Amino acid sequence: MKDLQKSSGFMCGLTPSATLAITALAKEMKAKGDNICSMCAGEPDFDTPQPIKDACIKALQDGKVTYTPASGLPDLRKLVAKKFKEENNIDGTWEQTVVAPGAKFSVFTAVVALCGPGDEVIIPAPYWLSYPEMVKAAGAKVVEIQTKAENNYELCPADLEKAITENTRLLILNTPSNPTGAVYRKETLEKIAEIAVRRNIMVLSDEIYEKLVYDTDKPHVSIASLSPEINVRTITVNGLSKTYAMTGWRLGYLTAPRWLTKRIIAFQSHSTSNATTFAQYGAMAALEGKAETEVKHMIAMFAKRRDLIYSLISKIDGVKCIRPQGAFYLLCDISSFGLKSEDFCNQLLERKKLAAIPCWSFGAEGTIRLSYACSEKNIEDAVNRLTEFCKELKG
Ligand SMILES: Cc1ncc(COP(=O)(O)O)c(C=O)c1O
Repeated sequence: MKDLQKSSGFMCGLTPSATLAITALAKEMKAKGDNICSMCAGEPDFDTPQPIKDACIKALQDGKVTYTPASGLPDLRKLVAKKFKEENNIDGTWEQTVVAPGAKFSVFTAVVALCGPGDEVIIPAPYWLSYPEMVKAAGAKVVEIQTKAENNYELCPADLEKAITENTRLLILNTPSNPTGAVYRKETLEKIAEIAVRRNIMVLSDEIYEKLVYDTDKPHVSIASLSPEINVRTITVNGLSKTYAMTGWRLGYLTAPRWLTKRIIAFQSHSTSNATTFAQYGAMAALEGKAETEVKHMIAMFAKRRDLIYSLISKIDGVKCIRPQGAFYLLCDISSFGLKSEDFCNQLLERKKLAAIPCWSFGAEGTIRLSYACSEKNIEDAVNRLTEFCKELKG
């Protein structure tokens, strides 16, 4: 009898998300009555701004409940193109944009539209854990390049140069970064862009945390804005989830060269179809700037929390970290304790009821990720628990 579970499909080798596993375990323990302190959140702890909700509610009341084009509402795509031009200095027409159910899906569609068996995709580590799995799902090969804390976790251009082969199709960049919180300097992006153009590779730039930057000397820069030559090789992904506290709405978007956009739209038309119609009306209100006050408030709160968590964690003996410049994560090097990140996090959860993300699945064994998308009180509580735990480990 044939084995129905046996398959040569690329999806079979995928690893389930490690972040979801520990988050689920922490929730289960909390439900049983444990006093859990969680630093796992991959989403803002704010509500979606009211003007965005109002636009969505109005759309529902107006009967905006049918399909839109697979690529999204033309008016929303026009706003996306305007946003890319005005805020990121990325030239392109609205026909080059695609709206999708989440930036995660935008990254996925770009990867599968570009890569297949025989192709190599370069991913600087630490990385967002979904990138390698998406590359594997496309049947392509992951080529990891380790970056260093002392270089602010930026990809070293010389390392990129060395890693490129005849088969290299794509480089995935993420700035500001999940999990390191690093923001790339313009000078580094210029060097990377020069290499990408000369060696003729594509770049996917995931800029979902773009607005969450906290240092005036480190503004966010989009690699696609640096020259027309790099623009025609770049897919820029962004979304509503993090900036507007809209993770559950599932709205992402990208801009790419037209030839690639056509493929992506074809794929979306046969897979998800459009992002939820009335949610797209909420996205229009967001991109029209109707929630600027709320967004400014969120950024100010994250900046304050960043300062707090960094100052407190830096004092813990045996833990090393860089000062994050963006997103809402702090990556802690815990290698001095001699434990694997998963064992460290499991023991931390068991003994101190503190949930943190082990970063082996982010290409960063020996580190853990703390999210500061939570109250200052929660941050202080977490740091106290971590401090006690580290003291006990050091004996
Ligand atoms: C780096 C990065 N890119 C993309 C996403 C996906 O965002 P979305 O909620 O829009 O799918 C996330 C979410 O955690 C992320 O951290």
